[in-house]
Amino acid sequence: MPITTCVFDAYGTLFDVAAAARQAASEPAFTAIQDDWPQLAEYWRLKQLQYSWLRAITDSHCDFWTVTQDGLDWALEKTGHDGDGPLRERLLQLYWELGAYPEVPAMLHNLKAAGLNTAIMSNGSPAMLRGAVESAGIADTLDALLSVESVGVFKPDFRNYDLVAAEFGCAKDEVLFVSSNGWDAAGATGYGFTTAWVNRTAEPMDRLPWQPAHVLADLTGIPALAGV
Ligand code: LAC
Repeated sequence: MPITTCVFDAYGTLFDVAAAARQAASEPAFTAIQDDWPQLAEYWRLKQLQYSWLRAITDSHCDFWTVTQDGLDWALEKTGHDGDGPLRERLLQLYWELGAYPEVPAMLHNLKAAGLNTAIMSNGSPAMLRGAVESAGIADTLDALLSVESVGVFKPDFRNYDLVAAEFGCAKDEVLFVSSNGWDAAGATGYGFTTAWVNRTAEPMDRLPWQPAHVLADLTGIPALAGV
């Protein structure tokens, strides 16, 4: 079946999750992290994701904003930075308004111009996703913001991928699912979507039961994969 629907993971895929720590580190008030912000950003992301998986397998769901804060608190303590002051507040504010990668607006515009359905399918809460797409200026090129909050468990629980058919009434093989997270691309492949893994930093392939159909260095090739 031809692709009718392109669905994107949000954090790390459309939005640069390292941008919050990078931006704060460039501001005069937060020179404390000017040297180790990459390590802080890496720990923050790693713990945020680990907590999402652990909450999924222990049936103890909370929303993604909670695991985002919990991951940051762990990362600030691990790197020896103040976990209660303005640095924490600034990082969380910046996370709410992360920028999109530079190729995102034109890529989404091309998909919409060709008549395809477009959506985000993310662990992010509905409020987080609205904040991100509005600050990135891409709301008008996305038909739906699908959040795991309506299911109550984080990806890659397969029930989340059902949200796409519920929204668009499409078959699995009409969907191109795009994620920069290897585990998410793998999960969506196992579910039955055609998948593209956006591997910006040349990471090794995850050793999981499924492998994505396509591997790209950024999002510019997505319209071609969707037949546009
Ligand atoms: C998301 C996380 C996994 O947007 O990046 O769902």
